[in-house]
Amino acid sequence: MEKKLALLNEKKAAALLGGGQARIDAQHKKGKLTARERIHFLVDEGSFEEIGMMVTHRSKDFGLENEQYLGDGVVTGYGTINGRTTYIFSQDFTVFGGSLSETHAEKICRIMDLALQNGAPLIGLNDSGGARIQEGVVSLGGYADIFYRNTMASGVIPQLSGIMGPCAGGAVYSPAITDFILMVENTSYMFVTGPNVVKTVTHEEVSAEELGGASSHSTKSGVTQFACANEIECIEHIKKLLSFMPQNCDEAAPSIPYEAANETRAKLNNIIPENANQPYDIREVIAEVIDADSFLEVHKNYAENIVVGFGRLAGKSIGIVANQPMFLAGVLDNNASIKAARFVRFCDCFNIPLLVFEDVPGFLPGTDQEWNAIITNGAKLLYAFCEATVPRITVITRKAYGGAYDVMNSKHIGADMNYAWPSAEIAVMGAKGAAEIIFKKEISEASDSQAKWLEKEKQYSDLFANPYRAAERGFVDEVIEPAETRNKLIKAFKMLENKAVKNPRKKHGNIPL
Ligand code: HXC
Repeated sequence: MEKKLALLNEKKAAALLGGGQARIDAQHKKGKLTARERIHFLVDEGSFEEIGMMVTHRSKDFGLENEQYLGDGVVTGYGTINGRTTYIFSQDFTVFGGSLSETHAEKICRIMDLALQNGAPLIGLNDSGGARIQEGVVSLGGYADIFYRNTMASGVIPQLSGIMGPCAGGAVYSPAITDFILMVENTSYMFVTGPNVVKTVTHEEVSAEELGGASSHSTKSGVTQFACANEIECIEHIKKLLSFMPQNCDEAAPSIPYEAANETRAKLNNIIPENANQPYDIREVIAEVIDADSFLEVHKNYAENIVVGFGRLAGKSIGIVANQPMFLAGVLDNNASIKAARFVRFCDCFNIPLLVFEDVPGFLPGTDQEWNAIITNGAKLLYAFCEATVPRITVITRKAYGGAYDVMNSKHIGADMNYAWPSAEIAVMGAKGAAEIIFKKEISEASDSQAKWLEKEKQYSDLFANPYRAAERGFVDEVIEPAETRNKLIKAFKMLENKAVKNPRKKHGNIPL
């Protein structure tokens, strides 16, 4: 037995070394952690159980039969994060550049199957040179096996992708199907075709970082929801994200203990500026309303005219969607619609109630918007809210104009409660534009047409730039003092906690993609 144990320990030690000390050192030199170090920081201490540590590739071409590493470039297993079971794969760049072979893919698929069958989140830490070039089509098949499982698991268990190094070619489509992507600044990149191919085809000169680094994907493409300063920050974000999510779609969203206190927030009475055209930061409203320091903003630097993220209200997980008057006056445009729609759908998949703060002057006009399909994209957000069956509450802080009023979680499309602050303006359009259209003849025939316009603008504004017309109809359930918002929301979400609504039976809807 002693000899057998020695052999076991020898093999384990070899597996732990991955591609060898020199390659581990090279990895560290690039400012990157190894696959196992990442898992160490991710899971509760001592909780990780590895599966498939001794797996090796089956390739016999290009001399690969003589180059074997136990584990074949990916560490797979399960552990706990804050006490909750989580399945993990972590690609090991020190072994063939973390490239994906047939067996590497099989290991990942096994973990995905276990995660799905056992209803627990899947975390993929990606650091790979893509398909194992020596294996050809076998490797491509392995990718497709993963994509299929990502899709089957979508909406059943949360799937999170940390990008800790290269992720190129078709490999990008696994993270792209998952719920959240987190990238690390300067050491990770994602692209379908790299700088060399780009140069050949389009003659553009671009670096890997510029083409597909964390900064580009968090601000320009929106591919990643988080750009993290370093790997540790990335891992901490993954843990924090998970803390807002249930284990699977059949569980309620988590909540943490909360002791009731004074819920009045006097500061909220002074946030809206006197002048309706002046901006204010909706994040201040969010921070006052939800539990202290509980906000985790998602897609922070992309489509900044809408703010989305997770928070806690009286200890319970909620998803927040809020127009941001500080940026483009909080208008809805293509990117904001897509960003918010995706977030709303995630929350609805995983039973996370939705809180919407509305201050929206309408949809952004212009050829750029129309030709880039604001019709289809705006419809995505509309559709996402319409189909969401989680508890949904809207607070109209100021403007709720035009189609955007309907889209932003109005009661007509299934919101459960709609509150308005006294500063709310709920109408088809702003008073200036409305007066110009409906009093066009009177204005043009007046001796002082400017004065007439102002008079008519005031008339329209007095009638409609308030919350009371909507409250008369029951479109707004209550006009509330801003300071009481938190109090009202805590009570209303509690009232809705057993909400059970089912949409009509269907194979699946056809969201306007
Ligand atoms: C096999 C690979 C590999 C790969 C890297 N290596 N990529 N081995 N298959 N795809 C190996 C290298 O030979 C090297 O081995 C080690 O990993 C580290 O690679 P380096 O080049 O030394 O590292 P670095 O300079 O950091 O560059 C990393 C890299 C580069 C940018 C990822 O290695 C690279 O460009 N690799 C090829 C990328 C690629 O074209 N992949 C196929 C994409 S197509 P040694 O022994 O020296 O340590 C694809 C299709 C998927 O993925 C389609 C799915 C539908």
